[in-house]
Amino acid sequence: MTAAAATAPTPFAEHHLTEAERSSMLTERLRRCGLATVSGLPTRGTVLGFVHSVMRLNPHRDSDRDGLTTIHNTSLPHRAQLPGFAGFGNGELAPHTERSSIPRPPRLMLLVCLRPALEGGECGLIDGQAVFADLDAHHPEIAEELAVPRSAYFGDGGGHLAQVITRLGPDRASFRLRLDELVKFSPHLTPHLPVLRAVLDRHRTNMTLSVGEGYLLDNHRWLHSRGPFTGDRLMVRALGDPIPAMALRPGFVRAAARTGEQREPECS
Ligand SMILES: [Fe+2]
Repeated sequence: MTAAAATAPTPFAEHHLTEAERSSMLTERLRRCGLATVSGLPTRGTVLGFVHSVMRLNPHRDSDRDGLTTIHNTSLPHRAQLPGFAGFGNGELAPHTERSSIPRPPRLMLLVCLRPALEGGECGLIDGQAVFADLDAHHPEIAEELAVPRSAYFGDGGGHLAQVITRLGPDRASFRLRLDELVKFSPHLTPHLPVLRAVLDRHRTNMTLSVGEGYLLDNHRWLHSRGPFTGDRLMVRALGDPIPAMALRPGFVRAAARTGEQREPECS
């Protein structure tokens, strides 16, 4: 077991995958759980090799020539971070869907640690399926409001009007959310935000990544966040869509309610 898993136990710690198991196990885990941890990727080259085996990269504003994004603290002292660039500072990042302000955010996101922080910088992960089930069971009125079309505006100008929960037929849904200055909610939804934040907190899992460790998540299901940190933390991120062989259906299956402590056994 890695040092990261030892100091920050997670429900996924025993699912680190070997090279040989990756392809089929990753596909199965993404279908079932929407999340898999990975290890043994200590360099940009090894990360890139893995990325090409699971996704087609979506280049974007912040990505480098190889399609990966280098995430480290580039902010200057005493200068405020511009909206949309907070990831390149060392502050806390609230839970969010990656690239929530475009019409169709990338389905997959991989984050791998190349150099850990001196202190802090833990990764927070929240399963939208569990949040959705919790809301359905205990706050159905909030689940309804979150699914009202065009009830949330994501971005700061050239953004996208959408909703947090998109229902995809009778038993599937997708999830899009952020809780920072880059989102505005409808007046009907705004009063529910404190309860929504509490539900999100209930389903949050924290992970501290060591060199070569990371996670691959379904960005239409899971939210991610980051704690503030010190030191020269260095991560690489890949955004893209699954290779066709994975055959991931849109969204995720709506599940029966359970608490954060009662995860599905096959995803724990
Ligand atoms: Fe992010």
